Amino acid sequence: MINPASFSLKKIFEKRAIPAPELHIVLGSGLAPAFSMSVPEGSVQALAEIGFAEVEGLLPSSAPGHKGAFRIYLDKKTGKTFSFQMGRLHGYEGHAPQSVVQPLVQMALSGTPKFLLTNASGSLQPSYLPGSLMIIEDHVNLTGQSPLYGPNSLDAKGQPYGPRFTDMSHAYDESLNALLEKTLLASKLSVHRGTYLGVNGPTFETPAEVKLFSKWGLGAVGMSTVWETMALNYLSRRVAGLSFISNLGCGLVAKQALSHEEVEEEGRRIAPVLLKSIFDYAAATLSEV
Ligand code: HPA
Repeated sequence: MINPASFSLKKIFEKRAIPAPELHIVLGSGLAPAFSMSVPEGSVQALAEIGFAEVEGLLPSSAPGHKGAFRIYLDKKTGKTFSFQMGRLHGYEGHAPQSVVQPLVQMALSGTPKFLLTNASGSLQPSYLPGSLMIIEDHVNLTGQSPLYGPNSLDAKGQPYGPRFTDMSHAYDESLNALLEKTLLASKLSVHRGTYLGVNGPTFETPAEVKLFSKWGLGAVGMSTVWETMALNYLSRRVAGLSFISNLGCGLVAKQALSHEEVEEEGRRIAPVLLKSIFDYAAATLSEV
């Protein structure tokens, strides 16, 4: 999973004298387009935008609504930097898990300790309505794949970057999640907690699948995040997780058809408030000692 090219982002930061971000935030479907309007100009300063294409080892994303770039900001109060990832790679685009996690791996290897992974997802519980949010407490990986398959990656001294068998008992960091929840509630957003189910896609689920997943007690289903969380746990990084519920799982209430446009539309609707709250979360996280 880790090779010499995995340090390209670190080298770019060093060359441009950008301190490694203290926190890296991945924006899921529908959130990126509203981003520019939500930047709190008074409290942060834009430092750099780095496209995936500029970074050796990163592939461009072809998913609709996902560009593939890092935006680095300075938090004026703490003097620390944090970053956003506009767009991510997905398995359903035909990418291997190792490629999908590369943007996160490169950020982690630049020295970033904390991550917030957001995504759009379908609800698996009738009370988790579109427009609400779910703090990801844990996940189920139903993709049948892992970014950690293959020989354990070794550094120049022959030491592995992480354990062969990564512990996932605290895959999502409870204290980061608690701070996230507190911040979202302060913005009057509707927040649930639950388990995220990662699937391959690109089909949405059948009504029979949604019925089954719902009975399993899972909260939301989507096509991202789980591999990224696995790679970051391997590297001992701390992860907060957030799903925004863009639609009810197919057949959960009505037998309505689902479309990617619906997912994006719901994202656009709540994006301004959610993004403002995410900036508040970044400020609160950076203020932590
Ligand atoms: N299923 C899977 N992935 C998704 C969904 C869904 O209903 N909505 C947004 N991403």
